[in-house]
Amino acid sequence: MTEPPIDLALALRRATASIHAEVERLDLMASLVSEGVTLEDYRRYLRVIASIHAPIEEMLYSQIDDAIRTRLGLRPKLPALIEDLREQGLLWRPHQIGVIPPPLLPVDLSYAIGGLYVVEGSTLGGHTIARHLRRRLGDTVGGTRLLDFHGLQTAAAWRIFTTGLNESAAEGLLVPERVIAGALEIFSHIYRCLELVKLQP
Ligand code: HEM
Repeated sequence: MTEPPIDLALALRRATASIHAEVERLDLMASLVSEGVTLEDYRRYLRVIASIHAPIEEMLYSQIDDAIRTRLGLRPKLPALIEDLREQGLLWRPHQIGVIPPPLLPVDLSYAIGGLYVVEGSTLGGHTIARHLRRRLGDTVGGTRLLDFHGLQTAAAWRIFTTGLNESAAEGLLVPERVIAGALEIFSHIYRCLELVKLQP
């Protein structure tokens, strides 16, 4: 009897649920979703996330080809982030990036896609957070291009990503255990970086 195909998207959600909850509890993230959020909280988030996101994205995108990019609907977010920073009068300083160097993942498509699951999935919460910021702070938050990367297409983009993920796993192109390991590595790395913000206000 052949094994039923794994729902890799669901397995990823389950495997990362507890680290996701820990990330949500960190000061920087909790302040963004609080009722008393300030524009300075949002600007601090942009500055911090820029230093974390840029090296991760560069590393992960260097490991995937155009075919899988198209299949999963992947598009780098760094240009959106740079535009958000510019809009808030913040400089993009690539030489200051890297709170902690990104983890040295094995050079392997499955690990890279696991990492990109984290980067892509953050848009789900980001869509809601962006709405909250607009509600509390109005137009001053500007385009929130990073948080709300897919805007009204958030659910559709996530469907393309998770469908491509599950189909690639069913075809044997992705090894589920490695995808999950890559996702956990990147999530833990982001957690460690964000946690440092407590110590470096
Ligand atoms: C205040 C901070 C955050 C909040 C409130 C939040 C909230 C959410 C929400 C509401 C979802 C959607 C769950 C669903 O549709 O069932 C979600 C999904 C997700 N978030 Fe966050 N999030 C936060 C921060 C982050 C960060 C910093 C990352 C990683 C960089 C992240 C990664 C993910 C991932 C990977 C998913 C997809 C989970 C799945 O597989 O369905 N989140 N988040």
